[in-house]
Formats: sequence, structure tokens, C-alpha cells
Amino acid sequence: MLDKYKSSTVYQIYIKSFCDSNGDGIGDLNGIRSKLPYIKSLGVDYIWITPFFCSPMVDNGYDVSDYRNVNPMFGTMEDCEALIREADALGIGLMFDMVFNHTSSKHEWFRKALAGDPEYMDYYIFRDGDKDTPPTEWAASFGTGAWDYVPSLGKWYLHLFAPEQPDLNWENPKVREELKEVIRFWKGKGVKGFRFDVLNLISKPESLSEPKTGSAVRFCKDGRHVHEFIREMVTDTGIEDMITVGEMASTTLENCIRYSSPASHELSMCFNFHHLKVDYKDGDKFSLMPPDLKMLRDYFKEWQEGMAKTDGWSAVFWCNHDQPRIVSRFGDEGQYWKESAKMLGTFVHFLRGTPYIYQGEELGMTNAHYTSIDQYDDVEAINYYNILLKRGQSQAEALNVLAQRARDNSRTPMQWTAGENAGFTTGKAWLGIPENYTSINAESEESDSESILNYYRQLVKLRKEYPVISEGSIEFLETGNVYVMAYERRLGSEHLVVICNFSGQDQTFTGIALHGEVLIGNYSGSHKMMKPYEAIVMLVK
Ligand code: GLC
Ligand code: CA
Repeated sequence: MLDKYKSSTVYQIYIKSFCDSNGDGIGDLNGIRSKLPYIKSLGVDYIWITPFFCSPMVDNGYDVSDYRNVNPMFGTMEDCEALIREADALGIGLMFDMVFNHTSSKHEWFRKALAGDPEYMDYYIFRDGDKDTPPTEWAASFGTGAWDYVPSLGKWYLHLFAPEQPDLNWENPKVREELKEVIRFWKGKGVKGFRFDVLNLISKPESLSEPKTGSAVRFCKDGRHVHEFIREMVTDTGIEDMITVGEMASTTLENCIRYSSPASHELSMCFNFHHLKVDYKDGDKFSLMPPDLKMLRDYFKEWQEGMAKTDGWSAVFWCNHDQPRIVSRFGDEGQYWKESAKMLGTFVHFLRGTPYIYQGEELGMTNAHYTSIDQYDDVEAINYYNILLKRGQSQAEALNVLAQRARDNSRTPMQWTAGENAGFTTGKAWLGIPENYTSINAESEESDSESILNYYRQLVKLRKEYPVISEGSIEFLETGNVYVMAYERRLGSEHLVVICNFSGQDQTFTGIALHGEVLIGNYSGSHKMMKPYEAIVMLVK
């Protein structure tokens, strides 16, 4: 495998909200083309674009009905080919998003299955049962049960996400061959890499009738054949030397090492999400709790150091289209908006792994601050709103939970300018734009040398300049203060120390002697005391 991605940074685009080129209020492929110079100016090497394939959009494109065609809402195949070409000319590789755990219920395969064609029924996971008794009471991810009944067949089918997202049967070699063909198709178009959606859920347990209750994801994660299926897919399609990242739900360190070690011939790297559950009360995404910073540090120490003992590799990130905005979550939207956004960026960009920047993160974009359920679009948000009401919460309480946890928070249109519709569209944006676009936007940050945008550009650049960032070892340091997290990176004689204050107060720390040169930081001056949300990176001599 190539090591190029170790010094690379990936920029994630949620196409529906990035840039609208034709005034219908929906971001599109030509919108991305028009912003390639902006993306190039960030210094990133790859763009991961969320799915733009044909889809009924029940889950905003993660329900694919045709893997080899462009959803007309986003443009045409010609637009897609032009985008690949133009990105290539700028030295930017495109990564497409392969949703292979499930299809849309409108996919031709599932339609044939529903019509009773046995060949296609075996593409999915059907079980016998009468209409009142599903095979198990497993819970799917967006608040429903995991089995749906098809009266005409007298059978239930499994779906780990929405009912309109039936899970594929990877045990069937024909399914695996079909999916490999999809990869070959896009590879043939010049795509440089792939992101694989919930890839560690593809291999289901042998018995789907036990245990009777619990979360379907928990029972299906890192399943018995997952490594062999991934290896087969990667080697048969010849993508082993391309950049590939798997989204791994509720996974383990051991599995991620194996998924990403070159010796396994699986992937370049993995996403995991344990660090984004440290503010889930009792593990429940929709129960609020302030972030537990000790848990956060324990996670990073275990995973960063654990990975570094091997040749496994992580994708490192705070934000994506499923997560609330990090500055609103672990930072401060108010007085220390700028400082906290830069601190959070610093913390991630010096870790061992490939950093991912999610559109608007580089501007310090915030949560949406919606106040009515009508403003939400996401299937998960709407389902959980009703669930929270059923659990006895008031509307105001439920809305407060969504305002902090809903996926819509990161899906608001990209804030390009202070002008109408934040410069995202000339029409009516499909999802409400946060009011702060008049002050938080790319145009105003472009001209401010101290902006979050220009700081992110430096972060991306430093990774290319200092091998210690991309290749070095990592060790977490004791600071004697839970708010102050620190780690060091070493490679030969190069030695970096990163110290970050995760609080809005001054903090002291002990045990780290600093002498050297400041490589980057969000304050100037002395560092005996950490100022609110201060981040400092020292090149130790
Ligand atoms: C992944 C995607 C998410 C989607 C889910 C089901 O977690 O990131 O947006 O809803 O998979 O495909
Ligand atoms: Ca459009």
C-alpha cells in the first residue's frame, strides 16, 4: 500500500448542502466544480463526496436505487466526469461513497425480491414468520424495529437502518460480485479512492433469531466474515493501492488494526466513533450530558497509542454529516468561538492518522439552532422527536435535545458569503441556514489573516512539511489537569508537543517542560498558564 495518505488531508463534501449551481436550492456536482479552487486553496489532497447516486432520498442518498447513475437532482454523468477531470487537473483525488451494507427498497434487486424472484430474494435477508411475530425484537438505528413484514411473501426482511434500506446478504457470492462491479465502474471513471458506509456491519451472525432483543448494530458489527469479505472486495477490484476508508460502527481497536494493517490487504484506514459518544448519557445519543473529558482522553490515549504500536492507521476527525458541529459541542459558540474552533482543529490535525475536514468546519460553522420540528429534515431527527415525546418529554425538551444532537446540525448549507442565502443558492435552500452566516462565512474569513479558515490552511500545510506529524510515534502526556490534554510526537530527532485547553477558563498544568519553538498556536505569548481554549504546538529542541 502507498503511504501517501499519511501526509494527506481529506475534505468531506455533503453534496446537498455544499453549493447549488442552478437555483433549485439543492447543492450539486456543478456547484462542487465551481468551488474546486476554494478546495484547492485549503491544500487538501482528496475530496470525499457523500452519495449522489440515484436514490429516493429517504436517508439523503444513503439509500441507493442505482449505484451507477447520477441522481438528476445532483446533475448528470457528464457533470460527474467533468468534476473528476477538473479535480484531477488540480491534483485532487475524488473518493466516492459506497453504500454497500444495504440498498434502497426501490433498487431493482429489492423490487425483484418483493415480486418473489428467489434469485433476488437471496440478495437480501428474509426470514419466515407470521405477521405479528418478527424473528427478533432487534432495534434498527433510526428508532424503528429492524424487521419489516412483506405480506405477499409471508416473510420479514432485515434492515439495520430505515425500513427503506434493506440489508444486503453478503453471504451470497453474487451480491459480492455485483458490488465489485460497482467499484470497477467508478474506478474506470478515474475515481481515486472510496469511503465505505457502515462497512463493519456487512457480515451478519449465523443465527438471526438470537438474542431476542437489543440493538441490531451491536449484534452485526465486526461479524464473522467481515475481514474476508473486505479483503476479497479490495483485492478483486485492485483498489488496494488507492485510498480507502471504512466507516466502522461500534468497533474495537483490534478489529480496526486488522482492517487497516497493510498485511491484511483490507483498507487504508478506518473511522470509529467512540470519541463522539463521550457526551451520550448512559450511551444514549438522545440523552444529554456535558462531554466527559476524562473519557475523551482515555479514548485517544488507548486508540492512538494502540494503533501506533502496529502499522494500523486511523482516519481522525471531529465532524461529518452525522455529527453535530464540534465548535458547538466541545467548544464555545460565543466569546471563544474562534479560539475553541482553532484549538479543536489543532488537537485533531497533529494526531497520528489522516485528518478529515467536514465542509464548514474550517469556517467554524455552528449548529443550526432550529426551534421548530418543521425545520428538521432528517428521518432520524423526526423519529426521535416522536420517541422523546412518547417518553414523556415536552416539545420544548425534545427540541432542545434535537438542537444539540440532530444530524441536521451539520447538514445546513455551506456559508459562503454574508449575502442572500449565504451565497449557497439563488433560490430557496432545501434546509434552513443558521442566522450567523452574516458573520461566519468563507468570504469574510478569506480576508482575515487570523481566521479559522486561514488557520486550517496552516494545519494542512504543516502535515506536509513535518514528517513527524505524518509518520511519528505518539504518546499522551500527564498534565495533572483534566481540561488540559497533551501529547507528543517523535520521529528521529524531531519532537513535537501539543497542548490543548478544552475549557473556557485559564488552566495550569504540570509535568511538561517546554523549550523550543512554537510551531502553531491560537494565542501569542507565554505558556505557563493555558488561556481559555488555548492550543499550542511546540517543536522541542
Ligand atoms: C452511515 C452514514 C449515515 C447513514 C447510515 C446508513 O452512518 O454516514 O449518514 O444514515 O450510514 O447508510
Ligand atoms: Ca442544484
